[in-house]
Parts: sequence; C-alpha cells; structure tokens
Amino acid sequence: MDSNLWLSPVVKPRGRYTLTAQALHWITATLMFIVLPVAWVMMNMPETAPRRSLLFTLHKSIGLTIVMIVAVRLAWRAKHPAPPFGARLSGWEKGTALVSHWMLYVVLIGMPVSGYLLDATGGYPISYFGLFSVPALSKSPAVASAATWVHVVVGQWVVYSLILLHAAATVWHVSLRRDGVLDRMLPEQTENS
Ligand code: HEM
Ligand code: HEM
Repeated sequence: MDSNLWLSPVVKPRGRYTLTAQALHWITATLMFIVLPVAWVMMNMPETAPRRSLLFTLHKSIGLTIVMIVAVRLAWRAKHPAPPFGARLSGWEKGTALVSHWMLYVVLIGMPVSGYLLDATGGYPISYFGLFSVPALSKSPAVASAATWVHVVVGQWVVYSLILLHAAATVWHVSLRRDGVLDRMLPEQTENS
C-alpha cells in the first residue's frame, strides 16, 4: 500500500449503489443494531420479568422484518448489481469485500430462519408485533435444537465478527485508503446539498 495515501485527497467513487439499495442497506443496518441489543436484554432478564415476553416479541418481529427486507434487497440487487469497485482497490480488498458481503447476506437470512425454526418447531407461538400470528410448524425437538445451535451457539458469533469486520473495513477505507468506498453507500453530495 502507498504509505502516502492517507494524506491524499478522497477519490470520487466510480459508481454508487442505487438510492433504493442504499436505503435498504441503512434500514437493515439500523434494524440489526436494534435486534441485537434487544436480544441481549431479553436473554438477561429473569424469566418472570413482566416485559420479557414483550422483548421476545419485539426481537422476533424485527428479525422477521429484516429477512423480508433482505428478500426485497436481493431481488432489487439482481436487477441493479453492485457498482464496479474503485480503481484504488487491490485484488485482496475486492476479494475480501465480496466474500464478506455475501457472508453478511447469509447471516441476514440464516439468523431469522433459524430463529423462526427454533420457535416454530419448539412449540412457541410467534406474534408479529402483536398484529397476527406467524404459522407454527409441527413440533420437532431435533429441528428445534439444531436451529438453536445455529442461532445461539454459532450464528450470533458469526454476526458479531462480520459486523465488526464490516465496520472496521469502512473505517479503514474512509480514514486510510480514502478511496470513496463509503460514498458508494451514500447519496451524491452536490455543491448545493
Ligand atoms: C437478523 C435477525 C436476528 C438476529 C441477529 C438474532 C440474534 C439473536 C441473539 C444474539 C440472541 C441471543 C443469544 C444469546 O444471548 O444466547 C437471540 C436469541 C433468540 N432469538 Fe434471535 N435473532 C434474529 C432473529 C430472530 C427471529 C426472526 C426469531 C424468531 C422468529 C428469533 C428468536 C430468538 C429466540 C427464541 C431467542 C432465544 C433463544 C434461547 O432462549 O436460547 N430471532 N437471537
Ligand atoms: C457501522 C455501520 C455500517 C457501515 C458504515 C456500513 C457501510 C457499508 C458500505 C460503505 C458498503 C458498500 C461497500 C462497497 O461499496 O463495496 C456496505 C455494503 C454492505 N453492507 Fe454495510 N455498513 C454498516 C452496517 C451493516 C450491517 C449491520 C449489515 C448487516 C448485518 C451490513 C450489510 C452490508 C451488505 C450485505 C453490503 C453489501 C451490499 C451489496 O453489495 O449488495 N452493513 N456497507
């Protein structure tokens, strides 16, 4: 890496995600930053705490909302592919970005699906924000325990690692590489904006 890059001006991106893709990204990110702390609080509440089941409902409903938004997002992405990488990105940076983005999509689907399965096959009702019930599946302790393993034992740590890597990569691109990567996920700023 050129050691003087961090003093160089920020380059303009060669392309941006569409405004729709940007909006879907930031809505998903915000919901992830809500669903996780809700999980931590609900898991640490005494079983008899009056607000515990409210937080579980909130966690599950936000999680199901995330997977619905991600389905829309992937459908949109199929018609509007990611913009080409900037010229300043090296081969390993492009490779890491591609792999980590697809792994983020895997967890964005895998976590809600495993969460749904652990509940739906464990005999627990799933209320969507108290508006309606999401259909349960027939009881299966084997599926419920496999889904719990995916969701709780492995999944959450994969989520934390990927989000940390993703956020750290953004900081690295913004502050050291100065290659306009964050701008790709933000609306264009003009003189008048
Ligand atoms: C992107 C979406 C989701 C993420 C990131 C997520 C993450 C988590 C995390 C971090 C925990 C706490 C694990 C622990 O501290 O041991 C948890 C627990 C739980 N989640 Fe999710 N979750 C998501 C979606 C869902 C959905 C959609 C459902 C159900 C419809 C669900 C049901 C549950 C349940 C029942 C628990 C408690 C598990 C237990 O008692 O061991 N989650 N989730
Ligand atoms: C700290 C907050 C976050 C920042 C600053 C951020 C920033 C970015 C940026 C700049 C990109 C574009 C990368 C590129 O141009 O190659 C991106 C893409 C992406 N981000 Fe984030 N992000 C954040 C949080 C999240 C979260 C919480 C998730 C999901 C768990 C997420 C999932 C994704 C995915 C899947 C892509 C790839 C988009 C695609 O190519 O379709 N991001 N993010």
